[in-house]
Amino acid sequence: MRQKLVVGNWKLHGGLLENQGLLNRLKQELHDLLGVDAAVCLPYVYLFQAQALLQDSSIAWGAQNVSQYTEGAFTSCISAKMVAEFGCSYTIIGHSERRALKLESNQVATKRMLNALHAGLTPIFCVGETLDERDGDMAELIVRNQMLNVVYGLDDEAFALAKKFNMVIAYEPVWAIGTGEHASPDQAQRMHAFIRMMIAERDRDFADQIRIVYGGSMTPQNAHSLLSMPDIDGGLLGRAALVAEDFIEICKIASRCYQQKKVFQEPMAAVPVFEA
Ligand code: 13P
Repeated sequence: MRQKLVVGNWKLHGGLLENQGLLNRLKQELHDLLGVDAAVCLPYVYLFQAQALLQDSSIAWGAQNVSQYTEGAFTSCISAKMVAEFGCSYTIIGHSERRALKLESNQVATKRMLNALHAGLTPIFCVGETLDERDGDMAELIVRNQMLNVVYGLDDEAFALAKKFNMVIAYEPVWAIGTGEHASPDQAQRMHAFIRMMIAERDRDFADQIRIVYGGSMTPQNAHSLLSMPDIDGGLLGRAALVAEDFIEICKIASRCYQQKKVFQEPMAAVPVFEA
């Protein structure tokens, strides 16, 4: 059964002192949580600090992007190999803020993902539609288009790496990011099932294994209804990742949802029959 995954995307937030407080709190509270992997994706400059503070903990860390280049005269770029040296397990790829602000295309996102895989990182590949696209009944078309490079654009070697390093897909409807408005559990479940179906077009086993997480105004208040959906395997959190209590609470909710699903999926013990 798929473990839940809760990842904090810190975006452009943090400072040495406040990071220390937040990471230490997470470390104290998030151990021995059944069925949940927790991770934080911080700005590059704090990866060293994350490595120092988290290396003996059950919390993983990662970057928010990696370059599409591996090496060379590319001022300000940071390669996948570099972040891997800081003990990162994950990197976010193709976040809608990158796609919107930096005009990152699907092709560039795919190159970044390939570099991440070759460096042994787990890419968290983000997809999601804007409000106009959803209102225009194009949400599935847009997500399908974003997923095409992942499903069909990777050659067999790269696809094998995606499986080996447990690539993650994050469904993040753009209209739900940072707005306080989240996709309804049914809306999100439908899209997650659609994404899983697309992956099954290429590899049925991987479709069963891959974790598809939801991002977009997830809070402790809405996490249970989202995380108890069958195809929602976790959350990619923005604002809630910066508040220790919220991040911890969402991880605990994810653990409960995992355990409820496990009980539901396990065969029922035989009911004893008593003779009258
Ligand atoms: P919010 O949780 O702040 O909506 O951000 C979601 C997100 O963009 C995570 O990558």
